[in-house]
Amino acid sequence: MNKEEIEKVKAVVRNVPDFPEPGIQFKDLTTLFKNPAALGIVRQAMVDLYRDKGVTKVVGIEARGFIGGAILAADLDAGFVPLRKPGKLPAETIKKSYAKEYGTDTIEIHRDAITPDDVVVLHDDLLATGGTMMAAYELVKAMNPKKIYLNFICGLTALHGRDVFPKDVEVTTLFDF
Ligand code: PRP
Repeated sequence: MNKEEIEKVKAVVRNVPDFPEPGIQFKDLTTLFKNPAALGIVRQAMVDLYRDKGVTKVVGIEARGFIGGAILAADLDAGFVPLRKPGKLPAETIKKSYAKEYGTDTIEIHRDAITPDDVVVLHDDLLATGGTMMAAYELVKAMNPKKIYLNFICGLTALHGRDVFPKDVEVTTLFDF
């Protein structure tokens, strides 16, 4: 994304003070998703990043990671895998608990969702502390894919979420606040 596109997209992200708890400045990407021009810019930027990487699966993190993740999977002709909150997936799973910006949570993935032949993009809408994506990374890493890329639409630089990931992993945010 060029500077102009970044400004255009950032301008349509809604800031909601004190949600879901007092003191949290919530970056609401629904206002980006509902804007066709902004969604188109994000869509193009994501597919441009991974077009030549041989990606076979995009893993999207519940819930807002399903939106961009499914779009990216379709654009890359890759498969889509949901990484879900506990108790939602019907078949055998592996799971991981982690600390969040506000509270704790657990994520789950079907045990057979990823194979050693896969090249994976792990996608979420937002990088805050990085706790969610790090738990997702560890789950997917345990399934031994050839390669894992980490992708976010938006990052919150003040929370230093990038610092939690191993240095040899390619982490991309399309824009940051
Ligand atoms: C938000 C966001 C990321 C995560 C980022 O999800 O969509 O998944 O928090 O925070 P972190 O980097 O500190 O882990 P949330 O748990 O609010 O769930 P939702 O997508 O279902 O609304």
